[in-house]
Amino acid sequence: MIDNSYYNNSKLLLETSEVEAGNVAWRSPSNIALIKYWGKHGHQLPRNPSISLTLQNAFTETLIEYAPKDQPSKEMEIEFLFHGEEKPLFAQKIKKYFTSILPIFPFLSQLKFRIQSANSFPHSSGIASSASAMSALALGLCSIEEILFGQTLDDIDFDRKTSYLARLGSGSACRSIYPGIASWGESAFIEDSSDYYATPITNIHELYSTFQDDIFIVSAKEKEVSSRAGHGLMEDNPYSKTRYAEAKKQMSKMLSVLKTGDLESFGTMVENEALTLHALMMSSNPSYLLLKPNTLEMIERIRQYRKETDHPLYFTLDAGPNLHLLYPQNIIHEVRVFTEEQLEPLCEDNLWINDFVGEGPIQL
Ligand code: PMV
Repeated sequence: MIDNSYYNNSKLLLETSEVEAGNVAWRSPSNIALIKYWGKHGHQLPRNPSISLTLQNAFTETLIEYAPKDQPSKEMEIEFLFHGEEKPLFAQKIKKYFTSILPIFPFLSQLKFRIQSANSFPHSSGIASSASAMSALALGLCSIEEILFGQTLDDIDFDRKTSYLARLGSGSACRSIYPGIASWGESAFIEDSSDYYATPITNIHELYSTFQDDIFIVSAKEKEVSSRAGHGLMEDNPYSKTRYAEAKKQMSKMLSVLKTGDLESFGTMVENEALTLHALMMSSNPSYLLLKPNTLEMIERIRQYRKETDHPLYFTLDAGPNLHLLYPQNIIHEVRVFTEEQLEPLCEDNLWINDFVGEGPIQL
């Protein structure tokens, strides 16, 4: 069941004879966390606050077509196509998600849906797509609500509601609703912060508004341990309490370096967060390891290059072996020579994606 009554609309049902078929489409980006969310409780609530960069080139586009059901039924009627192909497993997940949000959108059970979704990044490129996919879906559902019931929310509340809904699908997805930098989770240092939805962070140095994030694909295989299982293992991790306390403290430091543009402190913190995330996986019981030899080789080469050139470039990692390289746009030409010579050959099929801080979702 949904954990609070923020958006309990149990009376929001349709007079189906008056509903016309329609469709909505959204493009929504992925994001990469600088302070990581790792560990959750209740219904998708974070154990610690997190902060992320919204990306631009790694996105999902989702078209939702809807029409009144031919026959009333309790069953969700959803057809789901990914890159034009039926994906029964994804369809099942979406059905489960729609059922879970019925207290917010009861009218979902009165409609039938055909959902078509596609990612901009190569299929199976090893990039977690749940943030872009679930945020695109949540945006679509909030748009459908507006079409069917009239506009009841202003822009701020529309974003907040989609962020709330996206979180229920995948925690990190709630941050993708906002351009630039967003946080999620209650923090004494962020006004309006909440465990239920993300908050945009606007007080940042201009350096970060064009920050680069190249993504190096070390392995495109599906990871052996899902994020869901990883979050679960945090419950018995002997270091979890210390981790949650440390992450809360890190928020204040991160906000400060985002404001001042102190890149060295930014980089130290971001790399530490990435390695802490993986250290938590290694110290879970059972322990597991998602880093690959080439991830470590990349880290060594980045640190060596930084030492030799003094260029401010730093890595971060998601819950997988692929590496994100973060640096300011003004050194892109020098960095490109380094990455093509030294990081690209370590990628699976030489695959890497040039990305940067993005402008947030758009309605298509
Ligand atoms: O949103 P989930 O449940 O897939 O968890 C994602 C967790 C990390 O990507 C590892 C960190 C984060 O804050 O995005």
